[in-house]
Amino acid sequence: MDRTRLVRAVLGRLDPETAHELTLWALRHGLGPARAVADDPVLAVRLWGRDFANPLGLAAGFDKNATVIGPTLRWGFGFVEVGSITPAPQPGNPRPRVFRLAEDEAVINRLGFPSQGLAAAVARIGRWRAQAERAPARGLLGVNLGNNRDSADPAADFAEGALALAPFADYLAVNVSSPNTPGLRALQGRDELVRIVGQVRAAIAALPPAAQPPLLVKIAPDLSAAVLAEIAAVAVELKLAGLIVGNTTVARPETLAGGHQGEAGGLSGRPLFAPSTRVLGEIYRLTEGRVPLIGVGGVGGAADAYAKIRAGASLVQLYTALVYRGPGLVAEIKAGLAARLRRDGFSQVSEAVGADHR
Ligand SMILES: Cc1cc2nc3c(=O)[nH]c(=O)nc-3n(C[C@H](O)[C@H](O)[C@H](O)COP(=O)(O)O)c2cc1C
Repeated sequence: MDRTRLVRAVLGRLDPETAHELTLWALRHGLGPARAVADDPVLAVRLWGRDFANPLGLAAGFDKNATVIGPTLRWGFGFVEVGSITPAPQPGNPRPRVFRLAEDEAVINRLGFPSQGLAAAVARIGRWRAQAERAPARGLLGVNLGNNRDSADPAADFAEGALALAPFADYLAVNVSSPNTPGLRALQGRDELVRIVGQVRAAIAALPPAAQPPLLVKIAPDLSAAVLAEIAAVAVELKLAGLIVGNTTVARPETLAGGHQGEAGGLSGRPLFAPSTRVLGEIYRLTEGRVPLIGVGGVGGAADAYAKIRAGASLVQLYTALVYRGPGLVAEIKAGLAARLRRDGFSQVSEAVGADHR
């Protein structure tokens, strides 16, 4: 057995959260690739005045405390999204709180935003940014903001996080869609979104323009048609920089074969691909392609990433498939995506965005 397969076999036998902590430890200690290879130019994306070498990103939750930005970028991602980061440190829910559904290539988690808090994140991200400016880093950084579980005013938490981290972020994402923080998903209604976006924008308005990154909102895949229509309308009205579609699902598709499916929490991975891609396509249709979308949910190969783009995504993220396939998946998806774009006569990712709607 080669070394990578051996490592994955060992990690796969550990409790999933312990395996993840070990992975982060190894990455922090330099046990990852030394540098990323250059990307095929067909994969380049220009969005929000920024140049992404490729459209594939690491989804939030893998690097909650921003400890492995450089190492995960070197896996070949065009961008990584750290977080969710909460203002005050908090422990999250009791363990065990992450479960593998191996037969389904899925995970259920109810972590509940364990976070080392804003001060720790600011220090680390600030150091990474300073370094990246000396030797321009290959890859961009998204920062995902959460609220503290006991917060009386989640909008104030998002605003506080935004103000502290805006100067370092290529985009900010407000996460109103984790199923594991009580009351959070109720913030996806029109009035709540308008208030949160207003408060976050007001918080960063005093910063110099270059330190005001694009603001995105990350939504759940479980919303009714009426709420989706509301979110689409608000996104267009407020000229949101983008929507991330979306988070884990509280649904339990009938096709699930694995144990643990009765655990409470958010389901991610392969069973989430079809429902999250449907919602992505619906949001693209409702916004008439006027709001950039990040497609995430169940991406496990190049065909999935391409399907997200054709459904309307300008960028694509993944997390759970890495648990089962390892980081070599990043290069595999990029190669397959480039081949599919060329096969279909596209010379850039942007030409394929929303192609299924035309
Ligand atoms: C263990 C775990 C922790 C996560 N934590 C966060 C989080 O802190 N914030 C967030 O916005 N999304 C979080 N997510 C959701 C992912 O970013 C992503 O939206 C979701 O897992 C669907 O993508 P996937 O099927 O490729 O994993 C988490 C997912 C997993 C599996």
